[in-house]
Amino acid sequence: MMGHFLTFEGPEGAGKTTQARLLADWLISQGQEVFLTREPGGGLPWLRGALLQTPHPLSPESEYLLFSADRAEHTLKIQEALRRGAWVISDRYLDSSLAYQGFGRGLDLAWMLQVAEKAAPLKPRLTFLLDLPPEEGLRRAREKNRFEGLDLSFHARVREGYLELARKEPHRFIVLDATKPLEFIQEEIRRAIMPLCGF
Ligand code: TYD
Repeated sequence: MMGHFLTFEGPEGAGKTTQARLLADWLISQGQEVFLTREPGGGLPWLRGALLQTPHPLSPESEYLLFSADRAEHTLKIQEALRRGAWVISDRYLDSSLAYQGFGRGLDLAWMLQVAEKAAPLKPRLTFLLDLPPEEGLRRAREKNRFEGLDLSFHARVREGYLELARKEPHRFIVLDATKPLEFIQEEIRRAIMPLCGF
């Protein structure tokens, strides 16, 4: 039996975490097994704090390789859950690196994808992109971590990057307007997964 792999993407403050949890709760209430997880830290929990708080900026290459090391371990856990038939819901996956380190910090996307062939071989069945203007995202997030402290133009590139990824894979990405009410967005998410629900 194979489960379904779903991811949530978007900027800080877009409500990814809340939406992922609401979806997980609903699936559980329907008798489904759910593995709710997140990055960074899904694979190597001890790396999360270091990646989010390191005081000295890393080169984009090292940053991506560290996120990738975490992701490679995370992928093994995800595969195991999928084999059990669980729904895997991950708050961020490879698209976060493509958006932040790739579009945001200018890392070469072709090289990133080559690394990802080994470190992140899974393709989510659906990716919910919670799209939000960067000004609004930053206002909501109030500088929680060092990525959030980066300037507005960085966050604008991240947003454009996400939208570009979504345009390239319209069957995988579902772009949602994160300024809409929480319940409305959750409805859209549930409607999108209906075709996958065999219950
Ligand atoms: P986190 O505290 O998990 O907040 P949220 O996901 O709610 O925004 O912060 C994760 C931060 O790490 C976020 O600023 C994006 C960044 N990040 C990357 O730059 N690259 C990555 O590959 C991942 C997974 C996250």
